[in-house]
Amino acid sequence: LDAFKATLDRLTGAYALAVLIEGESELILGARRGSPLVVGWGEGEMYLGSDALAVGPFTQHISYLEEGDYVAMTRTDARIFNAAGVPAERAIVKVAASSALVEKGEYRHFMEKEIHEQPDSVQHTLSEYLDLVSAKAKPAVVDFAAIDRIQIIACGTAFYAGQIGRYAFEKYADLPCDVEIASEFRYRDPALSKGTLAVAVSQSGETADTLAGLSWCKAQGLKTAAVVNVHTSSMAREAEILWPTHAGPEIGVASTKAFTAQVAALLSLAIAAGVARGKIDAAKEAELVKALFEAPRLISEALRMDAPIRNLVQDLAKARDVLFLGRGPMYPLAMEGALKLKEISYIHAEGYAAGELKHGPIALIDEYTPTIALAPMDDLFEKTSSNLQEVAARGGPVIMIAPENAPDPHGAGIRRVHAPDAHPIATPLVYAVPMQLVSYYTAVQKGTDVDQPRNLAKSVTVE
Ligand code: G6P
Repeated sequence: LDAFKATLDRLTGAYALAVLIEGESELILGARRGSPLVVGWGEGEMYLGSDALAVGPFTQHISYLEEGDYVAMTRTDARIFNAAGVPAERAIVKVAASSALVEKGEYRHFMEKEIHEQPDSVQHTLSEYLDLVSAKAKPAVVDFAAIDRIQIIACGTAFYAGQIGRYAFEKYADLPCDVEIASEFRYRDPALSKGTLAVAVSQSGETADTLAGLSWCKAQGLKTAAVVNVHTSSMAREAEILWPTHAGPEIGVASTKAFTAQVAALLSLAIAAGVARGKIDAAKEAELVKALFEAPRLISEALRMDAPIRNLVQDLAKARDVLFLGRGPMYPLAMEGALKLKEISYIHAEGYAAGELKHGPIALIDEYTPTIALAPMDDLFEKTSSNLQEVAARGGPVIMIAPENAPDPHGAGIRRVHAPDAHPIATPLVYAVPMQLVSYYTAVQKGTDVDQPRNLAKSVTVE
């Protein structure tokens, strides 16, 4: 143990270690710095794992090691020490049984299963924040009236969920909201007013940059909240306010149901903020709450479009570059669509605000560069539609995801995927589904490793 401690003192960088010693069959040593590590307490057996999910099939009794902790484990016991080498008490917590949920069941991939779980995961998440019976937002732990700005910090998919949230906070609550990639935010000395609420958005609650951004805000004396899917994670424990998402364990590296759960939480919180700030009246509140609770049904409807999408992707799988376009909240969704396609099919893709098309990306358009447009029937439909005509006029193949009753843009080569018509607040939740299915089936068509794409990790706990 002394040698182990002496070794740890000489290590730099982030790690989670499990050490076996030849000839010592009754001892496992573990240590963490920068990466999470948990001790699982079984009956006559002990476990060491990266998180509760990893040891979930064996035990639900977990101790979370803190930063710099190390542990000496036998078959029946664990002695935990802090970074200074002093014995430390780490509570044994009981986590929800989850092993049953991490089977693929009838699905070919976890990602496919998780896409199909979204009616439930969105419903569960909405129910955390909204009450369907009274058609009201539940009071949020924070006093939104006392806040003058929201700063969302996130990485990857969670960053795009945050951007969708921003549209809602500004539109429904008149609450200024900034969204920044955590790895930029944490190193740029941002100027934040005291009335800012810092909100970390993260599936895992362990992403190193997001956690560092959150801790920085806390150290500045700002109020902090975390929208996280793993409710026992580092961010959940670090933030003052925990705003849970209820997506359940997400196994596919490319996030799907955790994303829509984040969006559902943020949209719901925007309604609560709107009410608290007197920006929406009871009638508007009821309209928005009911509209969001329609989303699970509409998502189920969107899931039934998988056959036509499977046909469409035959061509898409051959593309080298793909452009995703959207306006309003469909713009971050377009960027999330591009990220999804890159992650699992390795096709280069970009998400653009449709209005930016003529400021550069249109130069890419040719017959080999498909454009996928997210075009709900809102007040921006006509504008997006005319952007698609411009693409079609230059010979670019177009896939337009829009309601069945949306008028056809004039132009050859425009193919359609029908998405259910939804209230504007619920549109991002519903349109996420065809966007995810396009990426999923393209990857299946290409034969890539959908659940574990090359070079990617589910949880990025190092910089
Ligand atoms: C990794 C994952 C992404 C995820 C991002 C942020 O890059 O592959 O799917 O969006 O981390 O993760 P978080 O757990 O903070 O949401």
